[in-house]
Amino acid sequence: MYSQCKRMGTKIAMEPYSLDAFQPVEPGLRAHCRRVAALVQRIAGRLEFSGSLTAALEKAALVHHYPAALLGVRERLMADLQPQMRDVGEVDAARLPGEVESILLAFHGYSSGDRDSQPFELAGRVLECCNIFDEEMENLPYEPRPANQAIKEFVSNGGPLAKIIWNSRIVDPTHLARAANRLSEFIPASRDALQWVRRQTVDTGELIDLIGSNEFIQTAIFRVANSAFFSPVRKIVRLDEAIAFLGADVTRRIVSATAVQPLFEPGNLRHLWCHSLETADWAARLAEAASGKGIDPVDAFHAGLLHDLGRVVMHRLDPEQASDYLWWTQRGCPATYAETILCGRDHGSIGAEVIRDWDFPQSIAQGIEFHHCPELSQNLMAAVLYLAEIQAGADEDLPSTVRRHHALKMLGLSEVEFENLHMGPGPMAVLAAA
Ligand SMILES: [Fe+2]
Ligand SMILES: [Fe+2]
Ligand SMILES: [Fe+2]
Repeated sequence: MYSQCKRMGTKIAMEPYSLDAFQPVEPGLRAHCRRVAALVQRIAGRLEFSGSLTAALEKAALVHHYPAALLGVRERLMADLQPQMRDVGEVDAARLPGEVESILLAFHGYSSGDRDSQPFELAGRVLECCNIFDEEMENLPYEPRPANQAIKEFVSNGGPLAKIIWNSRIVDPTHLARAANRLSEFIPASRDALQWVRRQTVDTGELIDLIGSNEFIQTAIFRVANSAFFSPVRKIVRLDEAIAFLGADVTRRIVSATAVQPLFEPGNLRHLWCHSLETADWAARLAEAASGKGIDPVDAFHAGLLHDLGRVVMHRLDPEQASDYLWWTQRGCPATYAETILCGRDHGSIGAEVIRDWDFPQSIAQGIEFHHCPELSQNLMAAVLYLAEIQAGADEDLPSTVRRHHALKMLGLSEVEFENLHMGPGPMAVLAAA
């Protein structure tokens, strides 16, 4: 808390009511407090708490790991820890607001039995319920069953407050189908190109025909071939020359990456396309690293390109639902967390449902389905994608060492081998930067 103190001459001034001093320093615990703050806000809204009680409850959630023993005795504590802070006015300024302290005391089980304290006691119970819910979400990697089943059981034992969280599921299969339908304008062209690239043996003549008929892909090929990364000795202007210069594998990757780009265009999801390119590169790299496991790097690349299609679907929901999705994610809840609350499933399972119609191998669809819970499947592609997400720096689920170890074990990779995997900038980075 003293890091918040600013030296002003010989005196120390505290930020008035700055919650920062009361929040956990450890990033994981701090993130947990942020998610609990989002959950309490949602329940407070359903219980029609007043604005001031909701604001106090949100603050209490952010600082609920502040030691109970220190509540209400801060003057003494501050005087002990910071002997130069004798001025009562300064010490008062560093205290938590009274309502927040009352909620935290109720959360820790200190009940005054006073009628005036009843709203705070209810708020304390809401905080307790949300705290446990978030811990359940953190424990999902240890569960032998899917998130929706585990949470359903928690909710059925958790009483009416827990039911409010579960009843926040406002997205049903019809909404998801409607959202996926909004992609239908772009899906056929992307799907056909990907299927073609995956199926064909390398034939330069056919590649030239395919690329020559699509101006969008052609532009991408020339952009990459003439980029500073590839630095040709002179500008490449002919397609056959570009393909020969880049090589068939790189050319095919550019075709696939460009073919899926339109799926990410509406709603400005370019950042998600760029993330998919990076994940695709990592997935292919991991498939190569897991030698002897028989994972096709081309399949892994395509699985990486499409792994987050479910997130695209979530962004195509009806405006109210799509903005609710944003509401949760902007309040520190990872994408899979928000999706579990809103839909009872994550974007892996949502995306796999769309891709099952694409005539891809089952291993790709199933890998995408379980890419955030690889421990629930024996599918190697799920492990590849889970680890590729980590390498690509995605923040789509709660970090889990147990899942990470499980995925590494499936691929026969050690932690050191995984850490030492290297991938310099390549054609996908050139495309993403354009
Ligand atoms: Fe907690
Ligand atoms: Fe991802
Ligand atoms: Fe994902």
